[in-house]
Amino acid sequence: MCGIVGYTGSHEAQALLMDGLRRLEYRGYDSAGVAVQSAEEPVQVEKQLGKLAELRAALEARPLGGTAGIGHTRWATHGRPSQANAHPHTGGGERFAIVHNGIIENYRALRHELESAGVAFQSETDSEVLAHLIARAYQGDLARAVRQALKQAEGSYAVAAICADEPGVIAGARHGSPLVLGRAPHGFFLGSDVLAFIGETSEACYLNDGDSFRMDAAGCEILRADGTSVVPEFHTVTVSAEQAEKEGHPHFMLKEIHQQPDVIRHLLAAYVADEQDAIDFPDIRGLEDRLDGIQRVVFVACGTAWHAAMVGKYLLEQWSGLPVSVELASEFRYRHTVLDGSVLVVAVSQSGETADTLEAARKAAQAGAALLAIVNVPGSTLDREAHGAIRLLAGPEIGVASTKAYTAQIVAITLFALYMGRRRGALSAEQLAEWIRALDALPGQVERALSDKAQIEAVAAEPICRTASHAMFIGRGYNYPSALEGALKLKEISYIHVEGYAAGEMKHGPIALVTDHIPVVAIAVQDEGVYGKTRSNIEELRARGGVILAIGTEGDTSLKEIAQAFIGIPACPAELSPVLVAIPLQLFAYYVACMLGHDVDQPRNLAKSVTVE
Ligand code: F6R
Repeated sequence: MCGIVGYTGSHEAQALLMDGLRRLEYRGYDSAGVAVQSAEEPVQVEKQLGKLAELRAALEARPLGGTAGIGHTRWATHGRPSQANAHPHTGGGERFAIVHNGIIENYRALRHELESAGVAFQSETDSEVLAHLIARAYQGDLARAVRQALKQAEGSYAVAAICADEPGVIAGARHGSPLVLGRAPHGFFLGSDVLAFIGETSEACYLNDGDSFRMDAAGCEILRADGTSVVPEFHTVTVSAEQAEKEGHPHFMLKEIHQQPDVIRHLLAAYVADEQDAIDFPDIRGLEDRLDGIQRVVFVACGTAWHAAMVGKYLLEQWSGLPVSVELASEFRYRHTVLDGSVLVVAVSQSGETADTLEAARKAAQAGAALLAIVNVPGSTLDREAHGAIRLLAGPEIGVASTKAYTAQIVAITLFALYMGRRRGALSAEQLAEWIRALDALPGQVERALSDKAQIEAVAAEPICRTASHAMFIGRGYNYPSALEGALKLKEISYIHVEGYAAGEMKHGPIALVTDHIPVVAIAVQDEGVYGKTRSNIEELRARGGVILAIGTEGDTSLKEIAQAFIGIPACPAELSPVLVAIPLQLFAYYVACMLGHDVDQPRNLAKSVTVE
């Protein structure tokens, strides 16, 4: 949510900033801008409404020379997308420029105060107050002025500033929004995440909340919240520049859908020890002792990660016998929750930076609960703050619609549920070995499901799908969360109004909506539990004219007979089926959105990594 990049060194800044913004564009894409400085040209700003291509075109016509600068790609919170509201914002007669990610909650009061003192504002944003506060606090030391200014700001921020009077210096701070520093042979970088500079260096240092920094071409220093100065410790990150490219695919989303077999292979290789048929999570050692005293598990997550957690609830209850609840982080953080040391809170997040999930996790840790993170981005705030972590090892997910992180979350949670089941003695060694064998088959089965692409594309091309204004997804048991996730995937990239329901709930209201204009995607994989019930629900919809697109087990001819279209997934235990069901759901959403001509990687109004409430 908003991407920040900065560079100071011996190379021209503009190209490096633009390369960083290109990789950060998934974080926001309604407008973008850069501010570059050199000894001759103090602070030059270019910003444009729209995608990065608009800024690129403007810079081609009027390049900005200089070896230090900051850049920003915006996801609007305060103030509509416009050129004036785009960052960088300037202050102090254009001597200062700032970029900001987050929300300054008391900006109205600050703006009022500044305007009363004669400051003229150029934008409707909350961020612009920071430029003026820094200008007002400046007494020859930019880093100090940033710290002084931020004392007045309430809310969350990652902020970076440059000043005409200090060529080559970038100063900034973080509180609640991510910021990472990078060290290259030719200079220093900053970014909202490492993708901002991964083309130039893989040496990164993550800032903690409350840290401020100052960098120039010669060095970089961090000041902790308590005033102690520390030399940044840079670590090598494993993300590569290629991972942040489409690598021949038309969209990141399609690339990431196809990466799923390998992502699952990596997860199994990392956490399953072949010889002993045992599951081991090296990064939960600090938590292990507490796991035996756990009496309850609470998942906290948002969006797609919440759907993965719902699958986790079914599995963890079944295999460990522990009571499990699944909470929307945005609700949980403001509720009067009952938590203590006997509760394990599992925060699930691809980015590890989602503001609501982070705050829910912090609340749990403060109440004494054990905190486990299931997280994709290593070094992210959640990864660092949790008592233990299970990393998804899925590599950067850049398509805004989550795909590979979702299936990786389910597989990681499945492994954790088996691990807890075995640890608590609820599963025997033989049972565990059997489940591990079933999991080993998953990557190959996902590959088979992916090979049905053409058939799914053909279903998406059916007039009922292409022209639908409304659609429904239904499922039961382990695949009730699949129905919710299929609905979310389709709505976020096709803009069709889609709802997901537990199939058993249809009769309690939603069935009133069923007509022969509304496609119903019905998930009914063969298992010993709820298959027959879901089939009956499908018959009820059919009897009312519903157009059924069924996702079921390969070879299920009886389901095929009652559906207008049928997509088969390889036969597998129902417990593992949400992973396989996800493949046709993702591809269906992708093809429908492509046929409607939408930008599937950057859907309207959305952005990846929701770092504001
Ligand atoms: C949907 C999607 C979002 C995220 C949600 C949580 O495709 O990507 O619903 O799942 O914003 O994000 P993370 O997992 O980064 O906490």
